[in-house]
Amino acid sequence: MVTDQEIIEALRKVMDPEIGMDIVTLEMVRQVSVDASGKVTVVLALTSDTCPLANRLRTDAENAVRNVNGVASVEVQLTVMNEDERNRLIEKLKARGRPAPPKQVKLPKERVKKIIAVVSGKGGVGKSSVTAMLAVEASRSGLKVGILDADITGPSIPKMFGDIAAPTAMENRIMPGLSLGGIKIISMNLLTGAEDTAVIWRGPLVSSAIRQFYEDVDWGELDLLLVDLPPGTSDAQLTVMQLLPLDAAVVITSPQELAGMIVTKAINMAVSLDVPILGIVENMSYVKCPKCGETIRLYGESKGHLLAERFETKFFGSMPIDPGLSKACDEGRIEQYYSAEFKEIAEKVLSSASVSTST
Ligand SMILES: Nc1ncnc2c1ncn2[C@@H]1O[C@H](COP(=O)(O)OP(=O)(O)OP(=O)(O)O)[C@@H](O)[C@H]1O
Ligand SMILES: [Mg+2]
Repeated sequence: MVTDQEIIEALRKVMDPEIGMDIVTLEMVRQVSVDASGKVTVVLALTSDTCPLANRLRTDAENAVRNVNGVASVEVQLTVMNEDERNRLIEKLKARGRPAPPKQVKLPKERVKKIIAVVSGKGGVGKSSVTAMLAVEASRSGLKVGILDADITGPSIPKMFGDIAAPTAMENRIMPGLSLGGIKIISMNLLTGAEDTAVIWRGPLVSSAIRQFYEDVDWGELDLLLVDLPPGTSDAQLTVMQLLPLDAAVVITSPQELAGMIVTKAINMAVSLDVPILGIVENMSYVKCPKCGETIRLYGESKGHLLAERFETKFFGSMPIDPGLSKACDEGRIEQYYSAEFKEIAEKVLSSASVSTST
């Protein structure tokens, strides 16, 4: 049976032609696994998503591994280094007197005026709801809006909008789906057509799907493109923050202590990737008693403004828990939902991002 160590030794013969060092020393080999049938899977982390040598490195790695005795087949998956891996590489190169690899080149912006990502790190805090509500408020104020649903494995945007005219293929481009209110939407759900089928994809595929959602979709002229992110701080976030020409990120938090901790990680990730933080929205902050109007703070005092102070960013406000909102989301009627609290938050977000109409 082939061992991981034998594979790693074989990969030492694969050189990065630009840097002139082998990919093991450069710590580009993120993962090696061998299954009982002799199938080898290797994950290589490249310095950037647009690395021109990606295909060559993949072929060289495949050939090197294929030559090891006992290997039945090889799959080399490509991903992008995270900030820590990249910093370690830069240190290594510095120690050998070599220049740092070029920084990630962002995709061009074309006719989209502003691109804002909605991030959190934490799951279930309302990123997708806030993305949808922001899009609706922006559209109500006359802006041309699109939503790129970067939650490839757990998309939830289409359900919130209900009836969406399906995306269509035109020559080599994809025309995005269109909501009843005229918001352009692209999401994995709209392409697979199945709401309850899980997409089980590894990081590299998730990254390339997000890239295609941006590059291959004909967004036309937009005042604002919102990007809804999945929870976590992994490949999807990395791709969106490194590759898309984001203007800023809006951070969604909730008042639980744990949320603050996880959200901090997401903010740090954005900062380390030079994505400006526009500000923070606290969701599910309180409940208003429908009978007496008293404010009940289920998770204690609001902490959103403290988080904003700590990161020297704006606090856009708090959104209450509103059963009307979850009902509207569940029934696909987000475009008919109205919240005075959210309208105020949306106005602050849009004006602080200087989003304006194209006419
Ligand atoms: N302020 C709110 N009041 C009531 N329900 C809410 C509120 N915000 C979000 N919800 C509901 O909570 C659930 C989770 O919200 P949502 O899907 O927007 O979170 P998320 O952060 O995008 O989750 P995930 O991490 O899974 O992507 C949904 O059912 C949504 O309708
Ligand atoms: Mg979501």
